Amino acid sequence: MEHIVDQVSLGAIVQVRDRLLEQQARGRQVWRLESGDPSFDIPPHVREAMEKALRDGLTHYTASTGIPQLREAILRKVATQNCLKVANADQIIVTNGGMNGLYIIFRALLNPGDQVILPDPMWTEIAENIRLSGGTPVPVQLHEAKNYQYDVAAIEAAITPRTRAIFINTPHNPTGAVASREILQGVVELANKHNLMIVSDEAYEHVIFDNQPHISIGSLPGAQDRTISVYSMSKTYAMSGLRVGYVVATQPLMLDRLKKLVRCTINGVNSVTQWGAVAALNGPQDATRSMAVEYQKRRDILMDALAEAPYVRAFKPEGSFYLWCRMGKDWPGYNGKRDDWSMTNYLIDQAGIGSSPGSAFGAVGAGHIRFAFSCSTTQVQGAAKLIPDVLRRATGK
Ligand SMILES: Cc1ncc(COP(=O)(O)O)c(C=O)c1O
Repeated sequence: MEHIVDQVSLGAIVQVRDRLLEQQARGRQVWRLESGDPSFDIPPHVREAMEKALRDGLTHYTASTGIPQLREAILRKVATQNCLKVANADQIIVTNGGMNGLYIIFRALLNPGDQVILPDPMWTEIAENIRLSGGTPVPVQLHEAKNYQYDVAAIEAAITPRTRAIFINTPHNPTGAVASREILQGVVELANKHNLMIVSDEAYEHVIFDNQPHISIGSLPGAQDRTISVYSMSKTYAMSGLRVGYVVATQPLMLDRLKKLVRCTINGVNSVTQWGAVAALNGPQDATRSMAVEYQKRRDILMDALAEAPYVRAFKPEGSFYLWCRMGKDWPGYNGKRDDWSMTNYLIDQAGIGSSPGSAFGAVGAGHIRFAFSCSTTQVQGAAKLIPDVLRRATGK
């Protein structure tokens, strides 16, 4: 019998990254547009708080749900910025990044065979975390013609007696779409009508462009009691390697399960990281704002370059740091193939440029390619200079 973990992939992006790192080690210039790791250093006050925690010997076990100072800081943040109605810090659980938050949420929510509706395309780890909990991911296609907005009618059509939850991610990885208030409200109404939970992944809440507001679905009328929200400090404060995120849940049964799950898995986030997270949340927020400005600049550089390039049509992202491109039917292919991997392979081989094949994000992702612009502006500029010419040279021979 197949083991449940065997249903999980080793990750397409990891494969691309490993190839680029290998080429870099051999002295080749590479352009790291395959994965979403912020190029920035953590803000100085965060580093100082972590250094102080180390000096003060704050290196012991903490409460498995997080130190009180951090949970209180998160409570203030989600009340003021996300407009969530959270009664107290007991409804907040500090996790090892958003990823660990997602894992414990699906573990807490699902019984074997339960279904979760999620967008297609979607960052692969969502479907994989659903599977790891014995659940079944039910993809609902996002359409370019609808600016990759959620289609409430299509979500409703996918609901079955086994549906347990609707998963929402805005800003969205990989398309960069930002969900509108009206559509999110439509999802809430659907969840109420069919008695479903909503899982809201807001990892990119602060990577948002053109003065767009980020709307937390849990703050909308009728959503509070059926939403579990998950946040990450990886993108907001460039703390990706420090591994900290948090889950907000108001339902007593869910909270009870989530607490058991953190205790029996990570048993608390690294204590020093937690002190850094307190400083990040309570300190000045200008680094977060200036990172978003820089990401927007990189987006525009890459959009301009892709507009010049053949075989790809880029969707302009309103948030996140990904550029999702549809591959033209005239793409001549590479080594006899015309699929999305062939374009990813071509760009690596010809120019050392990283990307992610769209099929890594779900069935409808095939025929697409994703570029990340979280690497440095110099890297984005370098790749942008090369992409149009490299693609023009493609012959398929
Ligand atoms: C959509 C989405 N959610 C959650 C995460 C989790 O990030 P982390 O575990 O670093 O907090 C990511 C990371 O890339 C993501 O793309």
